[in-house]
Amino acid sequence: MDAIYIHIPFCMKKCAYCDFHSFEGKLDESKRYVDYLIKDFKNWPTYEYDTIYFGGGTPSLLDPDEIGRILKEMNYNKNSEITLELNPATANLNKLKAFKKNGINRLSIGIQSFNDDILTTLGRLHSSEKAINTFNNARDAGFDNISIDLMFAVPGQGIDELKKDLETIKLLNPDHISIYSLIWEEGTPFWDMLQKGILKECDNDLEADMFELIIDTLKDMGYVHYEISNFSKPNMEARHNSKYWENKEYIALGIGASFYTNNFRGKNVLSFNKYYEAIDNSEKPWLEKEEIFDKKEYEYMLGLRLLNKGILPTENKIIDLCQKLENDGFLKKYENRYILTRKGLFLGNSVFEKFL
Ligand SMILES: C[S@@+](CC[C@H](N)C(=O)[O-])C[C@H]1O[C@@H](n2cnc3c(N)ncnc32)[C@H](O)[C@@H]1O
Ligand code: SF4
Repeated sequence: MDAIYIHIPFCMKKCAYCDFHSFEGKLDESKRYVDYLIKDFKNWPTYEYDTIYFGGGTPSLLDPDEIGRILKEMNYNKNSEITLELNPATANLNKLKAFKKNGINRLSIGIQSFNDDILTTLGRLHSSEKAINTFNNARDAGFDNISIDLMFAVPGQGIDELKKDLETIKLLNPDHISIYSLIWEEGTPFWDMLQKGILKECDNDLEADMFELIIDTLKDMGYVHYEISNFSKPNMEARHNSKYWENKEYIALGIGASFYTNNFRGKNVLSFNKYYEAIDNSEKPWLEKEEIFDKKEYEYMLGLRLLNKGILPTENKIIDLCQKLENDGFLKKYENRYILTRKGLFLGNSVFEKFL
């Protein structure tokens, strides 16, 4: 066990598209919450962590000393990857320096778009200029491993807007990029606006053209397309997230956090009080868990996402399936491994389903 995820469930304001487990206006709770994260952590055996990931919500809303307080409890070494997700509306140069001083050595900045009109539609609290300044401040603060999150196929975005986003990426030269197409999540304001016809879904052909443009342009800029939605400069892959795709186990702290430990996959309780109560009673704060009997199923489904590694099938049934998918053009064979083709990449989910 060498990976740990820590969920920070606070946001300044919920974005209109997002259904991640987080609350606005509850930052007063943060000191007590950190106390309980530490108590939860102390109930686990001692491991040395190769990757530590603060995700959210908005971890950058926390006081950097609070992040330091958590990290002080953990064993890690100078090569460990310690990531913090950061919203550009929440951190100036001094705060970025303080995160660095407290042990963070990788940032994942939620930029989403470099177009101010689109940022307004998404309900973001920052402009494109603020996002660019935050990125430059992060470099000035000494961060040499920065990822940015962008979204595509969002309302108001056409090929021209996407081209401008890609030009800005070229100027900033981040080490890593995660770029997901918008998922319309039930229960969000975006979902309601879709039902009422105020917003429209992106046309499938346009979405495919956008994805193609992203893949080709980022490749020309020297990025390796190593996971369906993730691109990195050589050797700058997200080590923590790669463990998820490699089906490795990890501990999770905090409300609503997903874990995979001791053969169980599951999720922590969602409310602060239930979390505190479980920890006060020295119980695991688990909401639901499932024992994994067939590890291979996950290994194949997740492994296919890794575009340089793919999967190494061992059972005849799966070898036959891979051969059929190869004949149909969805997979290609490299030595004994099978990797998604460009055609398979665009139809990812329908390929993955076949391994269930
Ligand atoms: C926890 S947030 C990142 C940190 C910070 N909260 C922020 O938004 O700046 C994780 C990322 O998930 C992506 N995301 C959230 N909701 C999404 C949705 N409905 N569709 C696609 N991507 C989404 C966004 O790119 C976002 O940056
Ligand atoms: S995208 Fe980030 S800032 Fe926006 S609501 Fe989701 S977690 Fe919070």
